[in-house]
Amino acid sequence: MADVQLDWNNLGFEYRNLPYRYRAYWKDGAWYKKELTGDATLHISEGSTALHYGQQDFEGLKAYRTKDGSVQLFRPDRNAARMQTSCERLLMPQVPTDMFVDAVKQVVKANQDYVPPYGTGATLYLRPLMIGVGGNIGVHPAQEYIFTVFAMPVGSYFKGGMTPTNFTTSEYDRAAHKGTGAYKVGGNYAASLFPGQEAHANGFSDCVYLDPVEHRKIEEVGSANFFGITKDGTFVTPKSPSILPAVTKYSLLYLAEHKFGMKTEQGDVYIDDLDRFAEAGACGTAAVISPIGGLEHQGKLHVFYSETEVGPVTKKLYDELTGIQFGDREAPEGWVQKVELD
Ligand code: PLP
Ligand code: COI
Repeated sequence: MADVQLDWNNLGFEYRNLPYRYRAYWKDGAWYKKELTGDATLHISEGSTALHYGQQDFEGLKAYRTKDGSVQLFRPDRNAARMQTSCERLLMPQVPTDMFVDAVKQVVKANQDYVPPYGTGATLYLRPLMIGVGGNIGVHPAQEYIFTVFAMPVGSYFKGGMTPTNFTTSEYDRAAHKGTGAYKVGGNYAASLFPGQEAHANGFSDCVYLDPVEHRKIEEVGSANFFGITKDGTFVTPKSPSILPAVTKYSLLYLAEHKFGMKTEQGDVYIDDLDRFAEAGACGTAAVISPIGGLEHQGKLHVFYSETEVGPVTKKLYDELTGIQFGDREAPEGWVQKVELD
């Protein structure tokens, strides 16, 4: 690695302007001018639909430095597929999977000195993003789009990392029952800013949202999915049309079942039935696995395993998932893709 000197062990989750990003433009049915650029600023019309009507979507994935110094991606094809469904929902053009994965690999290769060293736990976070642009004012889809992928080295998303932190339920919703919760679109995150700030102000890591119909069932965290391990060892994660179908969650469901022989369940997780769980956590690309110590609901804190120690099943799943991502454990077929470096 070249001589990029960063405090790799204490990066947090912060924006950083790296030397290169990928950009592509869409008009009249085709992507054009697909290339890396050093320009971190987008020059767009004031009439862009992304600015007025939220016609935009994004993804999040990571590049991992392995012990032998190579760099690999974790299931980038799943992020490409999810972005395609988000684009379909918002009437935006699709980025074909090959183009998406190629763009991500180009950005990793061009910024390879910023992929954190193996052993620090830090990674290179990639943010693919699409916006509707051009002069518009009516509520209708844009005629032009920009797809960009930028990157930055990151550490833990939640301050605790693998140390449990407490969460709280919210009286607000981030997404409607058949709205856009199942798509990775900015509006969901705009809706989560106020409840998230309230949660932080009250000393919690983030909110856990309840179902928008009755507020009886757990949906997900504003930036990650919820999972619980029942007292008899079943891996449970909520099922709902308004939560994000997520790469980490489906990977954990697979590993729980196929690697550890656990029972798994996607179903209803009632907020008044938390006693069934021995452990709970938040999972996602940024969050990895972040153990939930306690969950506050209507003024009462329900502690799962412990407020200070991570439970054994959560730890076992974390070790397997991150072992695969950093190349220390054998990955199921097709889960990791090497990035060719110089
Ligand atoms: N749920 C929400 C709302 C998210 O923002 C994320 C992060 O992308 C996740 C879940 C986890 O998704 P993934 O595991 O695909 O990163
Ligand atoms: C991710 O985990 O990649 C996310 O997009 C979550 C968040 C930073 C919004």
